[in-house]
Amino acid sequence: MHDVRAVRHYSNRAVLHWHEVNANWILPANIAFKTMIKLIPTEKLQTGMFIHDLNCGWMDHNFVRSRFAVKTEAVALKVRALGVKEIYIDTARGLDIVEGPSQEAQEHQVDAALQALATTSASDMPRVSVQREVERAQKLHGDANRIVRDVMGDVRLGKQIQLEQIEPLVARIVDSIFRRADALMPLARLKEHDEYTFQHSVSVCVLMTSFARALELPREIIHEIAIGALLHDVGKAKVADEILNKPAKLTDAEFAKMKNHVVQSKIILQATPGISNIALDVAAQHHERFDGTGYPNKLKGEEISLYGQMGAIVDVYDAITSNRVYHKGMMPTDAMRKLLEWSKFHFKPELVKAFIRAVGIYPTGSLVRLESRRLAVVQAQSADQVMQPVVKIIFHTRGYYLTPEIVDLRRSHDRIVGHEDFATWNIDPLRWLPE
Ligand SMILES: [Fe+2]
Repeated sequence: MHDVRAVRHYSNRAVLHWHEVNANWILPANIAFKTMIKLIPTEKLQTGMFIHDLNCGWMDHNFVRSRFAVKTEAVALKVRALGVKEIYIDTARGLDIVEGPSQEAQEHQVDAALQALATTSASDMPRVSVQREVERAQKLHGDANRIVRDVMGDVRLGKQIQLEQIEPLVARIVDSIFRRADALMPLARLKEHDEYTFQHSVSVCVLMTSFARALELPREIIHEIAIGALLHDVGKAKVADEILNKPAKLTDAEFAKMKNHVVQSKIILQATPGISNIALDVAAQHHERFDGTGYPNKLKGEEISLYGQMGAIVDVYDAITSNRVYHKGMMPTDAMRKLLEWSKFHFKPELVKAFIRAVGIYPTGSLVRLESRRLAVVQAQSADQVMQPVVKIIFHTRGYYLTPEIVDLRRSHDRIVGHEDFATWNIDPLRWLPE
């Protein structure tokens, strides 16, 4: 076991450090430099400081940038009003405070939590190797997007939701996840820019179903959770398209209208005959936060139902890993680390860990780099080793395709060193869906 130092690499947030604790938890190459980034309680923010990271998802604020100088008290006030408990400041570019753990200390804690997860057995997820399941999942994913689009179109026209229109689709999604989660999950990761709202709803539904299954909830409850997840953002049908698809940050007034989608979702679902309280909770509480800083009702802790708490985690995970016009999606590993970091206040930590175990640290369908400098697409999660999934090796980082080879990393000397972006290597993720 080596006691580490640091690996850092750039993501769409600040400088991230990774550290290697043992051979089972390896991350990218070493670049070390001095950091002046400090985590401080938001209440200590004052004029003259330089914000390095607002420490919340881009969808939780409407600042144009998440890195800027606090030049006036009005700006400091607006940041405090975000409800984020701690933020990162850059003391090389602005005022410092005396106390406050460094970003390094903070990330050390998060890495330790991820490390603990990496060596924990994943929940038992039996996998049926059925080739047809993949084709079935592709059709299902297409159908799901169309149905959500139709439902939102109807709601926009003032029509009531007919659950009979959705029930068979949800039953197919739950069936597919129970047969083989690895088939549908990768599709949930792929989104077209202009279809974001529908595709996000389908992704949240798929991820929630898989999460609920990993928690071993009864199947009837999972079905209700899936309905709530599919319809959680249906209130966005009442938000103007110019706001929904604005390719820039929203004004305060626009942001308030956007936030109101949760209230709208609740109103619409309450008027839906046959809807369950479970489905309602998922939709009405998916923006509540464990520390009471969410909306619309500022519910706290266990005032938020399990289903609402699950919805919040999955909604944030899918949002921060998705590409938007003005925002590049995070790699899954980075998103998991952010969830763990935010679970200090926003989510229940045990629930975040359960979610990571359900999805995998290297989710099925994601592209990873191996120590041997080859790139591989994750094919399936290993039931007992979340760090060692089954992968299909397809490409060499020297720039050429390899004859595809399926490797179970539990039985290989090769190992994953990090995530890679399909776009960087010009690799089409659809061509390499798990078999
Ligand atoms: Fe939402």
